[in-house]
Amino acid sequence: MKIITSIEDMKKWSSLTRFSDKVIGFVPTMGCLHEGHLSLIKTSIAECDATVVSIFVNPIQFSPTEDFNSYPRNIELDKKILQTIGIDILFNPKQEDLYPKKFQTFVTVEDKTNYLCGVRRPGFFRGVTTVILKLFNIANPNIAYFGEKDWQQLEVVRTMVRDLNMDISIVGKPIMRDGDGLAISSRNSYLSEEDRSSARALSQALESAQALVIQGECSAENIRTEIRKIIEQKQGTEVDYISVCDPESFAEQTEIHSKVLVALAIRVGNTRLIDNRIIGKA
Ligand code: PAJ
Repeated sequence: MKIITSIEDMKKWSSLTRFSDKVIGFVPTMGCLHEGHLSLIKTSIAECDATVVSIFVNPIQFSPTEDFNSYPRNIELDKKILQTIGIDILFNPKQEDLYPKKFQTFVTVEDKTNYLCGVRRPGFFRGVTTVILKLFNIANPNIAYFGEKDWQQLEVVRTMVRDLNMDISIVGKPIMRDGDGLAISSRNSYLSEEDRSSARALSQALESAQALVIQGECSAENIRTEIRKIIEQKQGTEVDYISVCDPESFAEQTEIHSKVLVALAIRVGNTRLIDNRIIGKA
């Protein structure tokens, strides 16, 4: 595994690799790697000729009140994990190189960011799409892998790639969960033991929603109410949003007639967790 920090070196490696007709797979991350990241990386290794993983905690996707400074970082352990798994390139750019002074160009996907996390975290998706576009320009991949854990992010990136005519295939992979059902996330390390036990309510609530729909429940409001009940029974939880929406447009649904996305953002103690599940009839 080669570690590249310079943008120019990364671009050079990518053009040489593309020139020799190799398929480049790319997995952008903010590091502190876990099984969720590793499932994307392993898929890229299996499907592509060369795999690039980026680690960059992107300051412009955090609002001033969010956890940019305390976001978990463990680059030395990440390097060891990536070395063992056998990727080709770790791209670990410097903040001052990606965002030099006078940086002033941003990319925004419009409609799809007016829902869910786009409402609760203003500026978040603008930060994500801007850094992803930059990383795509630098790593020049054929295929990029994203997790369905961040369903809206995946859809927003797909939309950017489609709208801007970028020749990159975007592949989404299922959510990896711990044994207790909790969706794996770097931010789970913030949870106390008590928080952790309350956090199980997210996947339990999604499970119940699915069961209700299978039993014939068609009212989105009843599903939202049931989810809220399960979440609020647990100590230290606070609902940020509970949504039963269209999986692509994110428009809130009233009746469940086809597949819907049930998406949750819940505060547990001081930690904001997200989870989702596609439920409903085919
Ligand atoms: P990060 O949170 O590090 O996640 C990197 C990738 O891993 C994302 O595509 C995310 O959806 C995926 N992922 C995280 N947890 C997962 C899980 N439990 N199962 C499956 N996939 C999972 O998402 C970001 O970083 C950033 O916003 C980024 C896209 C890198 C832009 O800065």
